[in-house]
Amino acid sequence: MDLVRLIYTSTITEKFEVDDIARILKVARVKNKALNVTGLLSFNRQFFLQCLEGTRQDVNQIYHKIATDPRHKKPEIIDYQEIPHREFDGWNMGYLQNTESLRELF
Ligand SMILES: Cc1cc2nc3c(=O)[nH]c(=O)nc-3n(C[C@H](O)[C@H](O)[C@H](O)COP(=O)(O)O)c2cc1C
Repeated sequence: MDLVRLIYTSTITEKFEVDDIARILKVARVKNKALNVTGLLSFNRQFFLQCLEGTRQDVNQIYHKIATDPRHKKPEIIDYQEIPHREFDGWNMGYLQNTESLRELF
């Protein structure tokens, strides 16, 4: 079965509220678990950065849902490739706080 990893960034819109992170993670963890999609989400005051891993079909399906979410805009895929194994096995959507070390990445 083809495993892929998709990484994208997007820009937070005015519809986004800080409490939305908890809401997004709650829904994501249930839905991603059902599809066996794993990954990581991070955000700063301006941008989201998310990594999704799973079968090609499942990752594409979730990404297409996420990409039209009004809480963010301008989603840009920065990496999409087949992977031999998952980096975030067991994390149906981990949350990475915006720390000093992530500042440069954003
Ligand atoms: C930045 C961001 C990341 C998201 N990540 C996920 C995710 O990993 N999995 C997921 O199911 N929904 C995620 N969502 C939420 C989806 O866009 C959507 O609201 C959710 O899947 C519920 O869809 P439904 O109401 O059609 O069931 C994310 C939303 C945003 C803004």
